Amino acid sequence: MKKTVLVIGSGGREHAIVDALAASKEVGTIYAAPGNALMAKEATLVPISVLENGKLLAFALEHKVDLTVVGPEASLATGIVDLFKEHGLEIFGPTKSAARIETSKEFAKELMEKYAIPTASYKVFSDYEEAKEYVLKHGAPIVIKYDGLAAGKGVTVALTLEEALASLKEQLLDHKFGEGKIILEDYLEGPEFSFLCFVNGEHVYPLELSQDHKRAFDHDEGLNTGGMGAYSPLPFLSAEDKKYALENIMVRTAKAMVKEGCPFTGVLYGGLMKTKDGIKVIEFNCRFGDPETEVVLPRLESDLFLAFEAVLHNEEPVLKFSSSTTLGIVLASKGYPLSYKKHFLIEGLENVEGKVYGMGVEEKDGKIFTAGGRVLIVVEKGSNVKEARDKALKEVAKIPCENLFYRHDIGHWALEGEKK
Ligand code: AMP
Ligand code: GLY
Repeated sequence: MKKTVLVIGSGGREHAIVDALAASKEVGTIYAAPGNALMAKEATLVPISVLENGKLLAFALEHKVDLTVVGPEASLATGIVDLFKEHGLEIFGPTKSAARIETSKEFAKELMEKYAIPTASYKVFSDYEEAKEYVLKHGAPIVIKYDGLAAGKGVTVALTLEEALASLKEQLLDHKFGEGKIILEDYLEGPEFSFLCFVNGEHVYPLELSQDHKRAFDHDEGLNTGGMGAYSPLPFLSAEDKKYALENIMVRTAKAMVKEGCPFTGVLYGGLMKTKDGIKVIEFNCRFGDPETEVVLPRLESDLFLAFEAVLHNEEPVLKFSSSTTLGIVLASKGYPLSYKKHFLIEGLENVEGKVYGMGVEEKDGKIFTAGGRVLIVVEKGSNVKEARDKALKEVAKIPCENLFYRHDIGHWALEGEKK
């Protein structure tokens, strides 16, 4: 009997998961809730939002879903995994308690301190005056992080004291992200990269490394975004770097979560930095990265469904990756990550070679329109970063849309002479 899978989410990450699951011989039906218009070829779209846990559960029970895969952290933070498990359903993702590794920076930092997982030194504050005193003593640069989820916008890397104090005021006096604590952290320098691992308790199975590009514009200028492009693998990291990060960060963290009574299941995402003092954690996420997933999964040659099942059943998954380089360029709405307009017609998609994943799209009368900040990601393969980038840029140019912008320098860290 072929299996029925439900993927929760509507972005490029979930589209890439759907796409990889559609290639599995084991999978018959894929549902995506709510999904997006470009997934509709491979998945049946279910009009339930990612936060409607009761409806999602009822749907999974009624449609005899064999496996549910959760994309967004907001969904994991509500305890959807706990709910599905209580009803005997298989679901790939962490419980609400384990998701704290992303949903509470204070939890993550305390865990790292207790278990000697390398990261920047930090202090937690909820009082403005105390935080201000610390900042004045510490000096700039300094990093200010909101403790809870802030849709990727809760971090200020303050290069000057003025910036640092303005951010403190915004967060602790004006409560920009809500009432809550902040973390003040030492500033680290070096290339960042994303290490996604499948985890079940103490067992950690690494995927291939990738690198996101968070700033909106070329040369890493502009505001931080959810991610404007990514590529995999990373030529600037050695096998020893990966081994170090696996053993001293990812495995140590998985074991720490077990010891703390909140074993992690799902994708543990290490947002890491290679500093001159070694590899350190910038943040953990409790889910697949977006857009990292869109470049890592297309390199997976083995069966993703079987890998999910193996991990959940505490067996070693087969994870075989192609040696080629994948590179993805995000097309975003002009104005993003601040305000932007939607509902622009997207043309030319049928001419694009390589993969096109929908990030924020909707369909009307058979046509595709923009419906979010990040709209599409075009992913190409090549024998190296330069080749994959040249191909991806050529394909992106086939999508005329007045309201979209994209970066031309994805992969610059890997290409000699283009480093910051
Ligand atoms: P986060 O949301 O924690 O990933 O932070 C967003 C971005 O802020 C990261 O991708 C880094 O570029 C930057 N950042 C976070 N923490 C630090 C740090 N301690 N030192 C330097 N940059 C940081
Ligand atoms: N690409 C960053 C993230 O998924 O959080």
